[in-house]
Amino acid sequence: MKLWGGRFTKEEDLEMKEFDNSLPLGKKYYEEDITGSIAHAKMLGEAGIIKPSESQEIVEGLQEILDELNAGELSIDEDAFEDIHSFTEITLTQKIGEVGKKLHTARSRNDQVAVDTKLYCRKRGNQLIQKVEALVKTLVEKGKQNPVLMPGYTHLQRAQVVTFQYHLGAYAEMFLRDKKRLLNALDIMNENPLGAGALAGSTHAIDRKRTTELLGFKKPCNNFMDAVSDRDYVIELLSACSLIAMHLSRLSEELILWCSQEFRFVTMDDAYATGSSMMPQKKNPDAAELIRGNAGLTIGSLVSMLTIMKGLPLTYNKDMQLDKQSFIAAFDRTEKTLSLMEKMIRTLQVNQENMRNAVKDGFLNATDLADYLVKNGMAFRDAHDVVGKVVLYCEKNKCTIEDIPLEKIRTFSETIDEGIFDYLDYENSLKKGVKSEIIWGVDNE
Ligand code: ARG
Repeated sequence: MKLWGGRFTKEEDLEMKEFDNSLPLGKKYYEEDITGSIAHAKMLGEAGIIKPSESQEIVEGLQEILDELNAGELSIDEDAFEDIHSFTEITLTQKIGEVGKKLHTARSRNDQVAVDTKLYCRKRGNQLIQKVEALVKTLVEKGKQNPVLMPGYTHLQRAQVVTFQYHLGAYAEMFLRDKKRLLNALDIMNENPLGAGALAGSTHAIDRKRTTELLGFKKPCNNFMDAVSDRDYVIELLSACSLIAMHLSRLSEELILWCSQEFRFVTMDDAYATGSSMMPQKKNPDAAELIRGNAGLTIGSLVSMLTIMKGLPLTYNKDMQLDKQSFIAAFDRTEKTLSLMEKMIRTLQVNQENMRNAVKDGFLNATDLADYLVKNGMAFRDAHDVVGKVVLYCEKNKCTIEDIPLEKIRTFSETIDEGIFDYLDYENSLKKGVKSEIIWGVDNE
């Protein structure tokens, strides 16, 4: 069953029909298709384009279809219709009779799919924001529960002392920015494309303000041609999802490192790990690895969508119906990976002792010593050189800087006195200067 065919003399080739069928994914937004149709039908009645009684019949019929679908009493036969729009209109006409055929007055599937996609993106975008917020909350809590020093790294080499809270706080900041990106994308796309028709509006005096109000958009789109051609918002959301995926992937990578025998900073809960079929001792951090891998797929969705759109002339082109393959999968994946990461962090066991001990190895207080020499009047470049020599001495003698007796360390610079030990102490280091901000430091509002 289809919505067109008058000018055709032949049935579609079967392979072509299957190739063109967008219902398997389109049916995921049946709710949005029906909600958009209800708004359109109400407006048609109010504007006097169809009779109020007809409008009412259509609206009631659509509402019944929605209720039946939600209750599982009605199912969508993927082979019987070419897309979700055909399903809605044909099912309506079967239900309420000829008057159902009036629903599509002053509307095209082009503005219909545009409004469906926007409504669906809005719903999924808001769900993603909630998932991001939950993860940020858990990162903050986990950090607070584990106030422990740990090595901070550059080039994956121990660099300077930080705290576990602060390290997780860096991720909290990234995810808070991701939330802003999602909010921003939802704000930019908040314009109603319904009423744009196929590309040039309609000769009927439809009331776009009314459908805008009914569907909760900020304003109607300015330009009909843009309204049916625009998928920028899909790309913006996919871009926000890709950044989330990239951040989740970096965090996953660190978790994988941290639970290795080489680090032993954390222990992953058994619920998020798996074993080996051959090596009985193995416990692999699979959830983190899968999140890291899934980032590749999400970034792929973004690139697919950009590539699909980049050569399209205005206005609607059928290439665009492939958008669903990118954004539905990407939203599902982003939601799932955010949720798993939240649980993985929440159940993570932090091996505070190992983290604290790791701080002692690697001369993480070398920069503090240089700062100390500067305080005593030495130029930083000279201080850098002196401390380099101290480190060399330590490496040769297999000791830490704080192990060197005062007498000995004074041979590197006469400016050194008792005060040095305060600077070499890792806890004290975080109380000095701007470093005193390193404890938490996340603006979680
Ligand atoms: N089936 C399309 C989709 O799901 C919508 C139809 C767009 N318009 C058209 N003339 N085929 O994206």
